Amino acid sequence: MKSIQVGLLGIGTVGSGTFNVLRRNQEEIKRRAGRGIEITMVADLDTARAKAAVGDGVQVVADARAVIANPDIDIVIELIGGYGIAKQLVLQAIAAGKHVVTANKALLAVHGTEIFAAAQQKGVMVAFEAAVAGGIPIIKALREGLTANSIQWIAGIINGTTNFILSEMRDKGLDFATVLKEAQRLGYAEADPTFDIEGVDAAHKVTLMSAIAFGIPVQFDKAHVEGITKLAAQDIKYAEQLGYRIKLLGITKRAKGGIELRVHPSLVPAKRLLANVEGAMNAVVVHGDAVGTTLYYGKGAGSEPTASAVIADLVDITRLHTADAAHRVPHLAFHPNAMSDDLK
Ligand code: HSE
Repeated sequence: MKSIQVGLLGIGTVGSGTFNVLRRNQEEIKRRAGRGIEITMVADLDTARAKAAVGDGVQVVADARAVIANPDIDIVIELIGGYGIAKQLVLQAIAAGKHVVTANKALLAVHGTEIFAAAQQKGVMVAFEAAVAGGIPIIKALREGLTANSIQWIAGIINGTTNFILSEMRDKGLDFATVLKEAQRLGYAEADPTFDIEGVDAAHKVTLMSAIAFGIPVQFDKAHVEGITKLAAQDIKYAEQLGYRIKLLGITKRAKGGIELRVHPSLVPAKRLLANVEGAMNAVVVHGDAVGTTLYYGKGAGSEPTASAVIADLVDITRLHTADAAHRVPHLAFHPNAMSDDLK
């Protein structure tokens, strides 16, 4: 069967990770998806960088619209980011009948209602596992694994930059500005880290989780958003003396008359698992009425962790195209010949 053909818009850190993991694990991914998945076209303004990343055999263009106009492309991956051109391209891809995979939490948290409505009308999927908590499959957990539950609340450390800053302030007794510079030097924080440190990035992510968990529209404008810029090393020290750690939490929960949606620094008892999530790691706790409390932990950013989530969405969409029903159910896609000798 012909491979699913994918067009990639933007080949930075996550885009090149996606390309590399898809190539490296292509046989396993093919077995699980029921057919091959291939990135055949890449759009990036820096065509030299793109060519260096993908090598020969992949068409590289500067204009993303050329990818959307290509009738052979089944799925478009949007990794440009932001609300501007990315929004136009996503809507154009949907209008052209392409499925869309995106890591763009800002775009979906602010314009999700419009984008999901367009996709529904056109009968295509917009998948966004990579938009929330990077490599942690939290969207799939909420949508599939916990689907039997009435979700009561979600609380998560969903911004690695701020968690790194808070961990360093505590461990080294440094002030916010000093650690922010260190985070930028290490490449955790963006050159303009406003969305990270003001809590906006975490609010985008918790908005998306809330919409899925509670079946409400995407309502970023309703979220209470407070970042970590006003915290001093002394606040963290006092919290510690009282048996707490300060964490920037994204919280959404059922409340009287509605759903709460908020991001703010929180005192977490030091013995709690969330309090011990250190550095740039992410963790999300979900409480469902049937399952109780569940915890998801892992890398919330980075090239291959985020690529892992992008490719999971590619596989999901590919399964829908596959005639062989066995491949729609992951455990039936198991192939005995694929066992390594020591497992046989
Ligand atoms: N700036 C984000 C973070 C990247 O620090 O978690 C992943 O969304």
